[in-house]
Amino acid sequence: MATLTLPVPLTEPELKLLQTLVYQECGMCFDEHRIHFLCDRLQRRLKACNIDSFYSYYRLLTSHEGKKELAALLENLTVNETSFFRNLPQLDLFSKVILENLLHRKQERRDFSLRLWSAGCSTGQEPYTMAIGVCDALAYYYLRNPLPFDMPSPKPLIPPPWKVEIVASDISYSALLQGEQGLYTDSQMEAVDYTCRLRYFEKQGEKYVVKQSLKNLVQFDFHNLKAEFLPQRNDIIFCRNVMIYFDEAEQKRLIEKFYRCLNPDGYLFVGHAESLFGLTTKFKMIHQNNGTAYQRLEVPA
Ligand SMILES: C[S@@+](CC[C@H](N)C(=O)[O-])C[C@H]1O[C@@H](n2cnc3c(N)ncnc32)[C@H](O)[C@@H]1O
Repeated sequence: MATLTLPVPLTEPELKLLQTLVYQECGMCFDEHRIHFLCDRLQRRLKACNIDSFYSYYRLLTSHEGKKELAALLENLTVNETSFFRNLPQLDLFSKVILENLLHRKQERRDFSLRLWSAGCSTGQEPYTMAIGVCDALAYYYLRNPLPFDMPSPKPLIPPPWKVEIVASDISYSALLQGEQGLYTDSQMEAVDYTCRLRYFEKQGEKYVVKQSLKNLVQFDFHNLKAEFLPQRNDIIFCRNVMIYFDEAEQKRLIEKFYRCLNPDGYLFVGHAESLFGLTTKFKMIHQNNGTAYQRLEVPA
């Protein structure tokens, strides 16, 4: 078969069909500001599949054999921009206030488990930042409230009897793979200071790799936020800079799901440009020193 070179015409009805399919599959919404991005990515996928019409491409995507191509298209539509220690005031609120309170409340109940979820984790910088925040908060907590027994040597990142689990999920398989490898370039490490590098990273050639002890706390897994079955029983959920790509109806559905995925009094962190204002009444806003988080309110069913 000859390879296609010229852009294939995309009619209004074809674009509508494909837009609706993408929205139904992953919640991403392409308004007039982002429509060019969608058209560009569709052209690229069409070329990669060597198909000569968008209607045929749509038929492929909706067929059983097209499942792999659908995953490839969704992957190509994601924006994976991320960094370590993104939004410092919010991370201060996370580790110095919220984790501190949570550790205290849990210790009183003799519940020594912490479960966190980075929903839309991209290439791993966010869940590793969360893991570092938890390790530092625990170390600081036990510096001031020593345990009644000697700590094993060398000191573990997570002091017994605590158990920490961080689920890191995304819709992009290539992003998840990079997160699992935990290998970052100098420029990706820009926001990671000297002491943090020493404590949690090792040098591998020109790059930095996350130490195995920190990697062990993070489990990468595929989850489409459009799905009903999502990680449950979380104390804290980070879903930052993901909802901006969804429309209001989808944002409301997702926040409702997050509510159910949180433990009572659990916390939700959203991105700097995102807010729960006008979308739900089931969370209370916590705002301190320019950092914002939302706490689940216990409303009667
Ligand atoms: C801009 S990145 C944000 C990464 C990180 N949370 C941060 O704030 O630095 C958005 C991520 O959301 C993911 N994403 C978009 N739609 C998704 C969906 N329906 N389910 C799961 N992940 C999704 C994308 O693949 C991408 O990695």
